[in-house]
Order: sequence, then structure tokens, then C-alpha cells
Amino acid sequence: MLEQALREIEAAPDPQQLQDIRVRYLGKRGMVTQELKRLGALRPDERREAGQRINRLKSVLEEAIHERREALEREAVRRQLESESVDVTLPGARLKQGGLHLMTLVTHRLIEIFVSLGYEVAVGPELETDYYNFTALNFPQEHPARDTQDTFFTTDGRVMRTHTSPMQVRYMESHRPPFRLIVPGRAYRNEAVDVTHEAQFHQLEALVVGERITMADLKGAITEMATALFGRDTRTRLQPAYFPFVEPGAEFAIWWTNPRTGEQQWLELGGCGMVHPNVFRAVGYEGVTGFAFGFGIERLALIPFGIPDIRHFYQSDLRVLNQFRGAV
Ligand code: DAH
Repeated sequence: MLEQALREIEAAPDPQQLQDIRVRYLGKRGMVTQELKRLGALRPDERREAGQRINRLKSVLEEAIHERREALEREAVRRQLESESVDVTLPGARLKQGGLHLMTLVTHRLIEIFVSLGYEVAVGPELETDYYNFTALNFPQEHPARDTQDTFFTTDGRVMRTHTSPMQVRYMESHRPPFRLIVPGRAYRNEAVDVTHEAQFHQLEALVVGERITMADLKGAITEMATALFGRDTRTRLQPAYFPFVEPGAEFAIWWTNPRTGEQQWLELGGCGMVHPNVFRAVGYEGVTGFAFGFGIERLALIPFGIPDIRHFYQSDLRVLNQFRGAV
């Protein structure tokens, strides 16, 4: 019986079947228990010897069952650890990483350039009042120059700002000169959308006010920006133009050499000029002069990077966007 029992215990594949074996031998009606009960029928001398034998058998089986149970438990733990273990030598799953949009990269670069020249950065509301967008900038009601900046109006008469210039007025209302300021931000126009026009675009505005600020300072500021962007060989051109809030006013262009094609050309960027006395009057400034300029950031991103259509900027097509990761 001992041999047979030990073989069964050793072969028990799981704790449940081991328990069944235990019941079969050592349970209340188990074979070993039965034998113990039969001892009563024996003679005293036989009883003693048989009793000792059965008790030994019993403790051997108990010991064997105990060991088998522990072995099964160890095996279960080992299997679980194995199933949960991580192979740290496997190649990792690479997370998809986002990147900044080319417009953001170019804007950050511009901010970096102007901050290094001592300019402050401010932003303003995109939904503007007629006063800040037009009137305070010397576009009186019914002035024909308003027609060049048609935009979207709300029913209560506010406008989606047509340029970043209104921040000139807002900033001057709450600051005293001298100062150097840039305003990056979104602007809107009621445009027929095509390869070079979007109803929504970005501008960078600059305003410098102090004593004896001159047009030479204006040219110097634009040239500094151009040099930082395109290198030492660049040049800057101003041509007379009309904007109500500057006098004299000009359009400015930057001489630019395309590094890919070697082609040299003027890159027409935006408008500039000396702040009009009526604008200073609107904010109560006296005894100072200043210059301002403003341009579309899209142009500065489109042309140097050879992007043929402004609409690519706003279609979120990854085939386009991925080409300009870390480009600036
Ligand atoms: N705000 C003008 C526009 O969007 C551009 C401009 C012209 C800005 C002359 C200026 C400036 O600061 O002095 O058409």
C-alpha cells in the first residue's frame, strides 16, 4: 500500500487531485484510517506492533503529501512569474511623436530674434472693436482704405481683426514710452481663397516708440531681422506706400537668395512707416516718435521653404507637415 500511495502522490498533477488522494488514504474512511480501526480486533502484542507500523505509514504519507503540495505550489508560482515576466531585451514599441507646425516654428524663430534685440512680446484679442481695428489707427468711418481690409463682422458691430496693428493702440494705452514691442498673432480677411490668400493668416507687428526714433532705426530693425533669418548677404528695400496709421509709409522687401535654387529675388513682406501723429494723439502720447511694421508670417514660411500653396498650412495633411519637422 505504501509504495502504491507514494507513487500516486508523486504523480498528482494538481492540489485538488492531491487532496483526493489524501482523503482516499488518510480521510475518515480512508484506507489507513480503516486499518487503524481494525486494530481493536487484534491481540494486544500484535496490536502494538501493527499500530506502530500504521502510524509510521500515516506519517510517511502525510510527509509525502505535504512535500508534494509544496512542490505543486512552487510550480504554480514559477509558471505565473514566467507568464508575467518581461523580456527587457525585446525592441520597444516606439511612441509616435508630434512636432510643431512650420508656422509655429517660424513664429518662434521671429520671437527669438526680436527678444534678442530687446523687444517685448504682447498678444491681443482676435475679435476687435471697430475703434481699435480702424478708427484709432486713423481709418475714419467711410475712409476708402477700410475697403482694402474687408473682414467678418459680428452683429454687435465688432470685427475679426484684419491685422495685428490694433495692438499698437492697446499697448500704448497701457504703457509709457520708450519701448520696443512685437505682436505675433492671427488676423482675418474676407478673401477669395487661392494659392496665396487665406481668410485666416498670421502677422507679426512691431512698434518702437521713444525720443528721436527715426526711419533709419526702422530700416535697421528690418535689416537685423533679415540678416538673422537669411544671413549677412541680405538687403532691405523700402518703397513708398500708403497706410493711414503711418506717415511716411512704405512697403518693405528683403533681398533673398534661395539656397536650393541659387535664385536671388526680392521677397515683398509687408508695410511699415513712422507712426502717424493722429495715432499718438489717440493714445495721448506727446514729444515722441516711433516706427511700426507688420507683415504676414505665412509669406516668410511659404517662400523660403518652397511651399506652392498657402492652403497646405491649414489642411493638417501629415504628408506636408512631416516635411517641416524641426525645419527652423
Ligand atoms: N497692418 C498692415 C496690413 O495688414 C501692415 C502694416 C503696414 C503694419 C504699415 C504696420 C505698418 O505696422 O506700419 O496691411
